[in-house]
Amino acid sequence: MGGIEVLASGGSYPVEIGAGSSARLDSMTRRAAGRNKLFLFYDANFFALHGRQLRKAIHIESRRVREMVIPAGEKSKSLTTLASIYDFLLDHGIARSDFILACGGGVTTDLVGYAAATTLRGIPWGAAPTTLLGMVDASLGGKTGINHDRGKNLIGAFWAPKFVCADVNYLATLESRHMVAGLGEILKCAGLAGSKHVAALERFLDQDNLYYLRALTPLIRRSAQLKTHIVSRDEREHGPRMCMNLGHTFGHGIEKALGFGRLLHGEAVILGLWAALTLGEAEGFGSKGLMRYRDLVERHIRLLPRRKLDAEQIFRALSLDKKRGADGLRFVLLERLGKPIIYDNVERRSIKAALKSMIKIYRALGGKNA
Ligand SMILES: NC(=O)c1ccc[n+]([C@@H]2O[C@H](COP(=O)([O-])OP(=O)(O)OC[C@H]3O[C@@H](n4cnc5c(N)ncnc54)[C@H](O)[C@@H]3O)[C@@H](O)[C@H]2O)c1
Ligand SMILES: [Zn+2]
Repeated sequence: MGGIEVLASGGSYPVEIGAGSSARLDSMTRRAAGRNKLFLFYDANFFALHGRQLRKAIHIESRRVREMVIPAGEKSKSLTTLASIYDFLLDHGIARSDFILACGGGVTTDLVGYAAATTLRGIPWGAAPTTLLGMVDASLGGKTGINHDRGKNLIGAFWAPKFVCADVNYLATLESRHMVAGLGEILKCAGLAGSKHVAALERFLDQDNLYYLRALTPLIRRSAQLKTHIVSRDEREHGPRMCMNLGHTFGHGIEKALGFGRLLHGEAVILGLWAALTLGEAEGFGSKGLMRYRDLVERHIRLLPRRKLDAEQIFRALSLDKKRGADGLRFVLLERLGKPIIYDNVERRSIKAALKSMIKIYRALGGKNA
């Protein structure tokens, strides 16, 4: 498709999204790597399914390419795996003019992007996201990093890639729960973007086929466009980028209360969006557009696996959330569809009521994707 260009402090970069767009990965990578070495990193599951095909598509002679496979899963976003990447890069004589390409989901792009940011004070890199969440969120915006025992993403850097190239065809092999988690972020974007995005998502769900990639591709583009537009205006999250946290204060609380991994991040965001809508309603925000959006959130809740949630426990967990304003918890709410607003100082009572309402609807609807 072309057309998406992200502004970043180190220069703008293109985002390519489409079915079969890995054909473009070749020219993008060759242009970026020049005559230098290319360090290719793959997520292990992705590598097993598509690694050979991807490597074949990049026409750089083998003597200039070094490849490493990263174990799949959030655990890899650790100091230990990072150290093994540093060892690999240094053992193979990485130079500042070399190029790094990360192929995988958000775990791989966050981790490898951070290794790129910190090796020799910064190596240029590119991202080939292979999960839905990676395509609409994690690979965009230049945030890279790893987890620490004290919490997620606590160590990191802003280090924008030179390009992002997302081949939607790779999603055909993604597990359905990861498809739903990615949809959670698309759903968030729909709330931020407005009725056209909502309508496109409704049409996609009407197909009743998570792998209907022809209908999914325009949704991925729309979501990526929204995020890159916001990130271009606010790379370091001082202002408008905060809106991308719609549904996330609640979502993080849910993830934490359950124990990380029991619900995937994007799954928890779906529930978080419901809670944010309910909180907004208590603050007096109600409109036809928001009602329609609520219906759409409900349709996503139906796709979630069943877990036991407790409102008090989530409340305690989100009280510790790092994204809070100076005076307490910070929520992004929707004043109208497509019109986010930042809310600080929300009453505890309203937060708990929103959580209870969310758990009720989840009990009633959730459980299909167990
Ligand atoms: N940097 C950011 O701005 C940002 C934004 C959102 C999320 N994140 C991070 O992203 C991470 C989550 O990313 P994710 O949801 O992509 O998870 P992930 O990278 O763990 O990938 C999910 C699963 O899909 C597998 N996989 C990858 N591609 C596949 C393919 N094409 N076919 C089959 N299986 C495939 C992986 O092996 C893994 O098991 C979290 O660590 C989160 O903190 C970062
Ligand atoms: Zn998110």
